[in-house]
Amino acid sequence: MRTDYCGRLGRADIGREVTVCGWVSRRREHGEHLAFVDVRDRTGIVQCVVDHAHDLRPEYVLAVTGTVRERPADTANPELATGEVEIGNATVDVLSRSAPPPFRIDGRTEVDETLRIRHRYLDLRNPRMHANLVKRARVNSAIRRSVEAAEFIEVETPTLVASTPEGARDFVVPSRLHRGRFYALPQSPQLFKQLCMVGGIDRYYQIARCLRDEDLRADRQFEFTQLDLEMSFADGPQVRAVISEAVAQAVQEITGARPGAMPEITWREAIDRYGTDKPDLRFGLEIVELSDLFADTGFNAFKAPAVRGIRVPGGGGISRNAVDDLTAQCRRWGAPGLVWMRVGTGAPLPDGARSAAAGRLAVTSPVAKFMSDAEVSGVLERLGAEPGDMCYLVADTWRRASGVLGLLRLELGRPPVNEGGLCFVWVTDFPLFEDLSADGVPIPAHHPFTMPHPDDLEAVAAAAQRMTRGEDVDADALLSVRSQAYDLVLNGWELGSGSVRIHRSDVQQQIFDLLGIDPAAAQERFGFLLDAFRFGAPPHAGFAFGIDRLTALLCGEENIREVIAFPKSQSGADPLTNAPSRISAAQLEELGLAVVAPDDEQHHEHHDASSSTAADTSGEERS
Ligand code: AMO
Repeated sequence: MRTDYCGRLGRADIGREVTVCGWVSRRREHGEHLAFVDVRDRTGIVQCVVDHAHDLRPEYVLAVTGTVRERPADTANPELATGEVEIGNATVDVLSRSAPPPFRIDGRTEVDETLRIRHRYLDLRNPRMHANLVKRARVNSAIRRSVEAAEFIEVETPTLVASTPEGARDFVVPSRLHRGRFYALPQSPQLFKQLCMVGGIDRYYQIARCLRDEDLRADRQFEFTQLDLEMSFADGPQVRAVISEAVAQAVQEITGARPGAMPEITWREAIDRYGTDKPDLRFGLEIVELSDLFADTGFNAFKAPAVRGIRVPGGGGISRNAVDDLTAQCRRWGAPGLVWMRVGTGAPLPDGARSAAAGRLAVTSPVAKFMSDAEVSGVLERLGAEPGDMCYLVADTWRRASGVLGLLRLELGRPPVNEGGLCFVWVTDFPLFEDLSADGVPIPAHHPFTMPHPDDLEAVAAAAQRMTRGEDVDADALLSVRSQAYDLVLNGWELGSGSVRIHRSDVQQQIFDLLGIDPAAAQERFGFLLDAFRFGAPPHAGFAFGIDRLTALLCGEENIREVIAFPKSQSGADPLTNAPSRISAAQLEELGLAVVAPDDEQHHEHHDASSSTAADTSGEERS
């Protein structure tokens, strides 16, 4: 049908007779007997000149035949790749008609999200969506090439599984043949890939679909895709090298250049300097330790375990109202308050201000009067303050002060998603336990098969022993146990995580003891894995990263929906297919199910109206 794609015609084609096929993007009448029709296909748009276009409407499907010719110089369109040419004397064959589309497909019109998803097939005609899907395919392809060059073997793992321990809620599928029993959809291939290691696969990978019933956000969907990988006889640094290379090749495929170095910092350092385990390194505003300056302070608010601060260069111009808003925000984030110091030079000093640093700098701050000269000048010196800067201080525990300043840092300095380049960072040595539950049971930060840090194995053994004897376990000591878990972070998004796994049954037993998982429960939940480990488990380690997230950031998109062909809307529904939908009474009967309290459908429409942004990714659950 077609001799050429629309978007590929150019000067070199002048004089050729061509046929292009595509959709009517735009149509302009020019008098009674002349019309311009822009025809769009997946490569772009070309202008066709026809003798009348009365019956051509937007999104009609055409085959257009004519001669490529140069446009008169004053009508060339520099915004269009094909803008120097047009197809003249064109004859049009209407292949298919279109109802008036519910929104304009020009890449410029803002369209309601639910409407876009309901008519995703139209949305996909937008050049932006098309380009995103092409990039996604190229990312996948580059990742495959990279890991296959390193001799990884793709193994497909099942989708109907028993519940996996990734920490989110399962989607379940009722079994017809085993009434009253359910499959779970895999939250990840975690246990199967470890079984592959026992099976001697040695180097496994899979571009795997994972399913988790968790609240949706800009960087989360129910279904998402991971590059999942596992290696035998390998340690954390080796896994990180393989992943760094795969990611680098994906980046190069899209941007044309390899990303910069991917530095490694420990979890402790990440919290210390950035207040978060997923630091955005595109900008500075690092958190600075100030506690020692206030060791003997008379200022009550600063008699806290930690005083920490950040300096915003040139941030002194911020209005009083904006500072009040920030203070209120910090309180909502859990800080007792926010102390600010505006840095200026010279007299006259306004109310509540004082000079410091040997008279060179003056600060304005509502709390300056409570601090000694030495404290004020100490803070300015430690933060490297200059006239025109703004300093923000928080006093609390190390963890909370850092956390709040980390959020403040993002609020004040985070560039938009498509600016500031790509800054990768590996965060290593995560704590083994995230926290203790109300009844004192440790909560694992990753899954329960994560190997503790070699230097902390003794502490784990000792704590497990105390736990089994029913003795008290020192909470601080337990929470400071490190694991061999690591994350890859890109521009403040958690791209992926992984760990060295436990392959020793004594260590595994200690972890189960600490987590309060008794042998019967362990057998019931992970018996098959523990059984497999009795038959010669190699030491192994692995990783998984989100392909949706990587692609979104490479496309400069704030929401992973933009790189997913058929995503769910904010409420988790699919306005296109109407999933989730009811099933017939006969189906329910066959499955032995009864629906107790049907949901009312209005509820979901309401949720779809709310939106979320990439900024609200704090508090991510780790699996
Ligand atoms: P984890 O649970 O950290 O690790 O998941 C790895 C990566 O998968 C992506 N991801 C998601 N992407 C979109 N929507 C979601 N709901 C979602 N949940 C997770 C993220 C995340 O970093 N089995 C372990 C890996 C391992 O230990 O090898 C795992 O799944 O990018």
